[in-house]
Amino acid sequence: MKIFTGSSNPQLAAKIAAYLSVRLGDSELKHFTDGEIWFKYNENIRGCDVFLVQSTQPPAEHLMELLIMLDAAKRSSAKRITAVIPYFGYARQDRKDRPRVAITAKLVADLLATAGADRVLTMDLHAAQIQGFFNIPFDHLYASAIFIDFYEAKEIPDLAIVAPDIGSMKRARAYSEFLGASLAVVDKRRPSQNISEVMNVIGDVKGKNVLMVDDLIDTGGSLTQAAEAVKKLGAKDIYACCTHGVLSGNAVEKIEKSPICEFVVTDTIPMKPNVKSDKIRILTASSLIGESIRRIFNEESISSLFVNQR
Ligand code: R5P
Repeated sequence: MKIFTGSSNPQLAAKIAAYLSVRLGDSELKHFTDGEIWFKYNENIRGCDVFLVQSTQPPAEHLMELLIMLDAAKRSSAKRITAVIPYFGYARQDRKDRPRVAITAKLVADLLATAGADRVLTMDLHAAQIQGFFNIPFDHLYASAIFIDFYEAKEIPDLAIVAPDIGSMKRARAYSEFLGASLAVVDKRRPSQNISEVMNVIGDVKGKNVLMVDDLIDTGGSLTQAAEAVKKLGAKDIYACCTHGVLSGNAVEKIEKSPICEFVVTDTIPMKPNVKSDKIRILTASSLIGESIRRIFNEESISSLFVNQR
């Protein structure tokens, strides 16, 4: 087994390698003066089971790096190459939601397979159906395995799980069943990219402590507006958790100013170094991803990691 990382999240890759008690593979990533990417494996990978850890959050350089790493591994005669993509970017562009647009998630799937990925391992895809864009084995992990333990230990009384939009409903229902909490959903409208409006809250949140669950936070609009809406309806403490902290623009400031008392996110995307917030707490996904890599390598079940969870 050999594990390599690009530049998108080397901290997480190092933690994954530590979980597996292996050292990170030796590689070199450089840029030409015009910005073009150059990559080289500095050790023999012929016949190896190679895992490339690279989230594909913006900029697109991260995706391009991964494609180049895949191509280099294929041409270096690796036996099997797994693209380990803790955060799978472009997943929100998964259908033609208006005329004359691209289905970029499908394009990314094609690029990964063409570049040399034999299989993919990722976590909390924005839409699980994206798995069908691939014709290679695909393992999909759920951050609920991390968050549910965390919130169970907190023993928050009178808890209602709130889905910040209809798309998060299935995930929220799984949390409500597992944590024995009630369920509510925010009816959100998106008039254009990155702009969201709360229309209605379906379900009872009055006098309840609330946990909002989402796959990702980008501008923070969906989550903070949902928090305002449930606060107005009489919710008590408002907690939130998200798998992927894209946190673009002034998202952190929005969280700070919102009624959310604690926001928990995994480290699939590294937190920007200048982010200072007492409300934000980071849980690592390294053990879950590391354990999944171990099981892929040993050809053991991954689904058994998620018994009773979705
Ligand atoms: C929406 O369908 C997703 O689950 C997230 O709620 C959304 O993408 C978050 O975006 P933002 O933080 O910009 O509202």
